[in-house]
Amino acid sequence: MAHTLILYSTTDGHTVEICKRIQQTIEAQGDSVRLIDIRDGLDLSSESFDKIVIGASIRYGKHQPLVNALIEKNQAILESHPNAFFSVNVVARKPEKNTPETNPYLQKFLKKISWQPQHLGVFAGKIDYPSLGFFDRNMIRFIMWMTKGPTDPAAVVEFTDWDKVEEFGQMIAEM
Ligand SMILES: Cc1cc2nc3c(=O)[nH]c(=O)nc-3n(C[C@H](O)[C@H](O)[C@H](O)COP(=O)(O)O)c2cc1C
Repeated sequence: MAHTLILYSTTDGHTVEICKRIQQTIEAQGDSVRLIDIRDGLDLSSESFDKIVIGASIRYGKHQPLVNALIEKNQAILESHPNAFFSVNVVARKPEKNTPETNPYLQKFLKKISWQPQHLGVFAGKIDYPSLGFFDRNMIRFIMWMTKGPTDPAAVVEFTDWDKVEEFGQMIAEM
């Protein structure tokens, strides 16, 4: 039985939902999974695990700086285990931007780090306008208006393709 660590970076919780689905898929294969918020500052060097996955959402064009810091600090540990990285953003709702090769945020991120994840994923996220404050809600509405997305301030729209998330989980179980 393999033990997988999934480290996540989230602001509003949707990346955690994606991690939970990946966890369920892996656990259905008989392996164990632990989900950890990267803000908890886990010391990876004192952990025992077989595989590692990092998942992070995009906010105003970037993953949280903690994600880069974690990768920089632990690159050797990441590279010594089967590993994967995935990004969550709403640009990925567009079919022409929903693969690791075509998603601009993931491509830009990979150019900034020296770790080369063995496996990559990109998932479209969620827009929950009512839960956002005035500034963020209107910034996102403006971006959505420019990119032909939903702008109704009462809208809650989940763009995530859950089958694709489960396929990723299956791939982790097999890696
Ligand atoms: C304030 C804010 C800024 C965002 N900026 C971007 C962005 O620049 N590009 C993008 O594709 N998605 C952007 N998103 C969409 C998020 O990536 C998406 O809502 C995702 O599901 C958030 O995941 P989380 O809840 O795990 O943080 C933004 C969302 C919010 C609320």
